[in-house]
Amino acid sequence: MTTFRYQALEAHLRQQIESGRYQAGEKLPSVRTLCQLHSLSKATVTHALQSLEAERLIYAVPKSGYFVSESRMHDSTPQKVTTPSMPAPVNVPALFRDIMARSAAFDIFPSDASAPASAHLVTLNRMIAKAARTHPDKKAHYYDEPKGHQGLRQAVAELYRQRETTLSSEDLCITAGCQHALFLALMATCQPGDTVAIESPAFYGALQQLEQLGLRVIEIACDPDTGLDIDELEQKIAQWPIKACLVTPNFHTPTGAQMPAAAMQRLVALAETQDFYIIEDDIYGELGFQKAPCPPLKSLCQQGRVILCGSFSKCLSRDLRIGWIAGGKLQGKIEQLKLITQLASPQAVQQGLTEFIRQGHFKRHVQQFRQQLKSQREQLLAELERLGGERIKFSHPKGGLSCWVELPAHINTQRHYQALREQGIVLTPGVLFSAHGLYQHHLRVSFSQPLTAGRQAALQTLLDTLLAQPA
Ligand SMILES: Cc1ncc(COP(=O)(O)O)c(C=O)c1O
Repeated sequence: MTTFRYQALEAHLRQQIESGRYQAGEKLPSVRTLCQLHSLSKATVTHALQSLEAERLIYAVPKSGYFVSESRMHDSTPQKVTTPSMPAPVNVPALFRDIMARSAAFDIFPSDASAPASAHLVTLNRMIAKAARTHPDKKAHYYDEPKGHQGLRQAVAELYRQRETTLSSEDLCITAGCQHALFLALMATCQPGDTVAIESPAFYGALQQLEQLGLRVIEIACDPDTGLDIDELEQKIAQWPIKACLVTPNFHTPTGAQMPAAAMQRLVALAETQDFYIIEDDIYGELGFQKAPCPPLKSLCQQGRVILCGSFSKCLSRDLRIGWIAGGKLQGKIEQLKLITQLASPQAVQQGLTEFIRQGHFKRHVQQFRQQLKSQREQLLAELERLGGERIKFSHPKGGLSCWVELPAHINTQRHYQALREQGIVLTPGVLFSAHGLYQHHLRVSFSQPLTAGRQAALQTLLDTLLAQPA
């Protein structure tokens, strides 16, 4: 068998890491040094490093180099849980409101410095302000058309074209974020008392909507790597028919899992044979850590059964309050519901955002942001490994903003929420992610902010406090 030169270097570096020559957290020699040491081209060295990075043996820190990961030291992936076998109404804990009031706890230590504002966001604000200045006429102060700005719908359709999905501006309706889009999708597909299949763990914002709409849910286990368990879904819906399945195929929250293409195909086929709608939450679709684009489920469905929901909240700015919905067969009903719930979306924001995307700023911003998130993820995983060792398990997110952590079964993460709050530390307890009180000993930790000394200390305090709980 032919061994390429990059494979020889890859094997050499792997051996050096596994033998402890390079320790966890240690920086590898620079690309230039490796080229000189091994008489290889830059492309060959980069190829070897990227292969090791794909295996999570090393990680890149922009402008700094490659470091040895700590997160591979033991098999640390959380267990898939046993979910309740029957549908039931949702009961969201009161804690939810407190968490949401604290920016949904995406920052473990909010008083610490945030990442500096991206230059692209400054450009975005300038473009929105310019749109407001350039169109000060009467129309600019009246309602926009309910579907939303045509240029923006076209720009969103183009973003999906780059993800192998054919949509036209007519297929899309602009919403007030993804939360709004999900609400419209649930209202369009279900009546009170109907059953919806959801991922377990699930996004707590959706759980709140399901409760509000008087829907019953059946939880379907999610693998921390590959997402929704289609076998379990198939078994459960044979007994308990559902109207919709709410799923996040690309970078499920809180695990960061991604459904393999074959599982996505099975899900679409199941929706067609079992007559239910798929509500696809694609809010993290642009935030994958691999170079290849991640097509949404929508790209696989010819029958209009997938209702695609997304927004710019996670990949650009939460404050825009701009999302979208492509409702397939139910688009007309969904547009009517958008009119009832929001009338219209703000014009200057839509126009400025359209220009921002058209001029290529969005793509550049996302490329940079993904790199930043990827290295923040590695830093967080290495820190979890260092602080928790064998006592904790955590997911290895393939995209998105968060990681799912499992502690020993006797620990109740919610119990410490208030005491940690008093120290300025925001914990997101696992119980928030289940309609039926599962995940008492889990928590979500986000890597959306840099792991500063303050956040590192907060994470240590948090884990020390939780792990000290007696059995
Ligand atoms: C999975 C998921 N869907 C939807 C939303 C709501 O997003 P938006 O801010 O666009 O309303 C969030 C926000 O945290 C989320 O994590």
